[in-house]
Amino acid sequence: MIERTFSIVKPDAVQRNLQGAILKMIQDAGLKIVAMKMIHMTKEQAEGFYAVHKDRPFFDSLVAYMCSGPCVVSVLEGENAIAKYREVMGATNPAEAAEGTIRKTFALDIEKNSCHGSDAPETAAQEIPYFFSQLEIVG
Ligand code: CMP
Repeated sequence: MIERTFSIVKPDAVQRNLQGAILKMIQDAGLKIVAMKMIHMTKEQAEGFYAVHKDRPFFDSLVAYMCSGPCVVSVLEGENAIAKYREVMGATNPAEAAEGTIRKTFALDIEKNSCHGSDAPETAAQEIPYFFSQLEIVG
C-alpha cells in the first residue's frame, strides 16, 4: 500500500549540517520526498506537536530542544512508508538502534535523536497537516 508519513530532521542534525546525509538515507531506502521545508519551531508549535507526551518527564526538555534551532520537515511517500521510515530511523534510543540506521549513525542521545517519523497511519494523518497545507504537497 502506498502511504505517506511525516518526517522531521531535528535540530541536533541540522546544526551539524547533516540534513543532506539524512535525506540521502531516506531517498536511498526508496522513499520519495513529496513536500519539504525548513522551519524554526516556536514553543507553542513544539508543545502542540508533542501534546501526546505532555505528561512525560522529558516533555519540557524535548520542547526546549525542538525550538533550539531549525528543523527540516518533510512528507515521505512510498510502499509501507510509515514502517519503512521507522526502519530507516532505527530505535528511539540510539544505543538500541540497529547498524546503518539514521539514529545509530548520527543521533547523540535518546532526546537528541536526529529524526522523527510518524508511528501509525492515524498519527501521520495528524502530523502532516500540522505543518503542511495540501498546496505544499506535490502529487
Ligand atoms: P520522537 O520519535 O520524536 O518522539 C518523542 C521524542 O521525545 C523522541 O523522539 C525523543 O526525541 C524524545 N525523548 C526524550 N526522552 C525520551 C524517552 N525517555 N523516551 C522516548 N522519547 C524520548
